[in-house]
Amino acid sequence: MEKKIIYSAVQPSGNLTIGNYAGAIRNWVRLQSEYDCFFAIADMHAITVRQDPAELRRRTLELAALYIACGIDPEKCVLYVQSHVPAHAELCWVLNTFTYVGEASRMTQFKDKSQKHADNINMGLMDYPVLMAADILLYKADFVPVGADQKQHVELARDIAMRFNGRCGETFTVPEPLILKGGARIASLQDPAHKMSKSETENPNASVFLSDDRDTVLRKFKRAVTDSGNEVRYGEEKPGVSNLLNIYCTFKGCTPEEAEREFAGVGYGDFKLAVGETVADVLAPIQKEKARLLAEKDELVSYLVSGRERAAYAARKTLSKVYRKVGFWKE
Ligand code: TYM
Repeated sequence: MEKKIIYSAVQPSGNLTIGNYAGAIRNWVRLQSEYDCFFAIADMHAITVRQDPAELRRRTLELAALYIACGIDPEKCVLYVQSHVPAHAELCWVLNTFTYVGEASRMTQFKDKSQKHADNINMGLMDYPVLMAADILLYKADFVPVGADQKQHVELARDIAMRFNGRCGETFTVPEPLILKGGARIASLQDPAHKMSKSETENPNASVFLSDDRDTVLRKFKRAVTDSGNEVRYGEEKPGVSNLLNIYCTFKGCTPEEAEREFAGVGYGDFKLAVGETVADVLAPIQKEKARLLAEKDELVSYLVSGRERAAYAARKTLSKVYRKVGFWKE
């Protein structure tokens, strides 16, 4: 039986956080043996916000190394850089004509980013989810494993796919978001009402980065906000502690019930130390492997070249079909 297809990507737009790991990359690792997987480095999405070119190039390679260090097998999966495959931009153009300005401007992330980057509300920012739809639809993905913040974008990709299929005949697989419990919405350690973000620069203790060393990780967890009371358990009135428990479960690989049992009677200070140590223990080997891959670049580059070829082949097939359906002439 043919395997179902998985597609996902991360932007090389900042330092990756434990939220990116918990909501996305960790799940990809678990899915790679069961599905045909495409994992991209979304550099075209990243430039919707101003990037320093040298920095973007560096982050792109770093992200590739990080994927592999986290356990993505570049021989089993197609691991590639989005801008290496021109079909993304080409399909995006066609899909633009199947997307209404109204629906694009209603996207929560567009509204948030427009507020945050009020001096640069460029067309790319608004077109961002259409490019994301092009990514997903090019590879006929059945499932898109993402964190909760990307659900709305995957739903738009579904709407665009159905609209195109309705008008031009069966062309695209209609994708489904795959949002796994627990790690899908890791919140800031300083403000549990907001997601932990790689672009957070105001409060250095809010986000734990995958590149943070052990002392930094422990310090950030030590300073994490908790709630009133002194019990370590889940609860709507305990957003800080619930977030820390989610992080613990994700990194320890245990259930919420097991975690609550483990910390029954334990004070907040010791609890936060245990969460920090668990996270630091998971990060250490990832950081070591990432450094090795970056030091021996040839291996990494060869994976990305092979990934580009495999991705371009699959993408070109879909794009040709789309071009035919919309009526582009070809000799
Ligand atoms: P990006 O780069 O913002 O985030 C990458 C992945 O990490 C998840 N994530 C989180 N999960 C849990 N808690 C958090 N605090 C947290 N922060 C981020 C995101 O949900 C995402 O899964 N547009 C996408 C990249 C993209 C893409 C695609 C994804 C481009 N093309 C096609 C899927 C399919 C983005 O900006 O993710």
